[in-house]
Amino acid sequence: MPAMNDQESIKQQYASADGLQIRRMLHQKYSINKQPYDEWISEHYRIQPGMNVLELGCGTGVSWADAKRWLPDSASLLLTDFSEGMLKTARSNVPDQPNISFAQVDIQQIPYENDSFDLVIANAMLYHVPDLDKAISEVARVLKPDGRFICSTTGDNGMHQWFQRVLGEGESPATPFSLQNGGASLEKHFGKAEMRMREDGLEVTDVNDLAAYVRSTISFGYLRDWPPDEMLARLSATAVDGIIRIPKEYGLFICTEPKKR
Ligand SMILES: C[S@@+](CC[C@H](N)C(=O)[O-])C[C@H]1O[C@@H](n2cnc3c(N)ncnc32)[C@H](O)[C@@H]1O
Repeated sequence: MPAMNDQESIKQQYASADGLQIRRMLHQKYSINKQPYDEWISEHYRIQPGMNVLELGCGTGVSWADAKRWLPDSASLLLTDFSEGMLKTARSNVPDQPNISFAQVDIQQIPYENDSFDLVIANAMLYHVPDLDKAISEVARVLKPDGRFICSTTGDNGMHQWFQRVLGEGESPATPFSLQNGGASLEKHFGKAEMRMREDGLEVTDVNDLAAYVRSTISFGYLRDWPPDEMLARLSATAVDGIIRIPKEYGLFICTEPKKR
């Protein structure tokens, strides 16, 4: 099984937005917490007039579809991702307005000057980065001394582990950046890193949506050769009264006091 931060596999997985859209759809359709996940994250941004905001690994950009709600006219937002395919989708999802721009950027080498941004965002992406320490040091470098870094991630007791238990294959390599171990990586580069958890879970009623989720990610690439019926049977066997209940463990860190080198 390729590691979650294996560069070649990650580039392949995110060459286009198709797989990510399948996974996002599962969350939208079956999450118990009815506040949309994007809204929960965006509420933490607190973007003030005049602020400069950078998002790294922005993916489909769909969380900015209603940009006016979160971004004052006099603030600017730079949406970046290392995948040109993702940026293409992001451009189509985000309103065309003068204070929003796009660029292709790898978080491990951010091509902007020191102390440039008031807020840097990196959601659900740090676990994919091979040189995590370099990536976080780059974020601390481009943040203003009073700036904030917000990054969301998963925990070690969530969906991934549930799938592994149910499908009973493969050893799960440790998540390189999780709610459990992420704080230690962040504290090397920030004076403070506070964690916020989100209460949630999935109640899935159509097992085909789960099978599509499994097929959409390289993390379960080793299951591709399974007969589709066998996978559906294993997943279906976990249903109680027609509902498959799956735990989720998601949260974010809010980091301040970037340590400058
Ligand atoms: C799971 S998606 C998350 C997308 C979005 N942030 C969200 O929360 O929906 C991970 C994203 O990180 C991007 N990515 C992975 N490694 C990266 C790197 N080293 N630098 C910049 N972007 C990267 C991928 O192309 C993909 O769009």
